Amino acid sequence: MPYQTLLTDLTENIYIITINRPDKLNALNKVVIEELSDAINEIYNNPEIKSAIITGSGTKAFVAGADISEFTALNSENGKALAEKGQKSIFNKIENAAKPIVAAVNGFALGGGCELAMACHFRLASDNAKFGQPEVNLGLVPGYGGTQRLTHLIGKGKAMELILTGNMIDANEALRLGLVNHVATQENLLNETKKILQTINSKAPLAIAEAIALVNYAASGNANGLLKEIEAFGKLSGTADVKEGATAFLEKRKPNFTGK
Ligand code: COA
Repeated sequence: MPYQTLLTDLTENIYIITINRPDKLNALNKVVIEELSDAINEIYNNPEIKSAIITGSGTKAFVAGADISEFTALNSENGKALAEKGQKSIFNKIENAAKPIVAAVNGFALGGGCELAMACHFRLASDNAKFGQPEVNLGLVPGYGGTQRLTHLIGKGKAMELILTGNMIDANEALRLGLVNHVATQENLLNETKKILQTINSKAPLAIAEAIALVNYAASGNANGLLKEIEAFGKLSGTADVKEGATAFLEKRKPNFTGK
């Protein structure tokens, strides 16, 4: 589907969504929000897509946040609706997708951009990337999950400092804090991300889906994750892919998973 603010590409079962407003540092305006929501639905619904990458156009920014030019019309009601719609139609949907969605953070990831990266299942960053939650500079708090996901990812003290100061951190600090898994050069970022997804794409899709749900469950602080794991293990044990995985191992060949 052609988009006004996104570029999309589906090659070898990896769907790449590039937010494409480089002159505005890929800021999330209303059109981007609508289109990103559609593109996430595409990940859910298109069986050709096994995994996805979200990145930004150009070499300067991943996403420099929500589009501040739309903030002058904010009031209590439409502000709440904006945060709620974004969380439900994009950020929570990314986090809860059954297929891995990874952020390739190629520059500034500020405000909604940092939140978008954090909603993804994990993150790689280019060495020029910068992360921050500068909403307090505008009299706001993060609204797309930043207070919750940053705290889960890097711990309370560091999250509190970043959110209260609005300061930015660079890619190496993000790596040190566990906000990103790997740092690559700008040139290599997409290839490094694709390489990891190719590995994941070769595994059994139902196992990947259950693994995502279980890790999400643990990260949201639920107490009975171990019980969930027993249930998932049991459910997967009855699938054709488990038989294929075990047989392939014994026959010393690569498994041919069918997602059944
Ligand atoms: N919303 C709308 N427009 C934005 C934007 C945003 N979040 N971030 C950048 N832009 C626009 C700028 O207004 C500028 O547009 P113009 O050329 O029409 O004037 C263009 O993108 C380039 O940005 P600029 O500020 O000139 O680049 P810079 O290199 O000097 O600074 C940043 C880069 C990221 C430090 C700076 O753009 C910035 O602080 N952006 C806002 C970040 C933010 O607060 N995000 C959270 C929003 S809740």
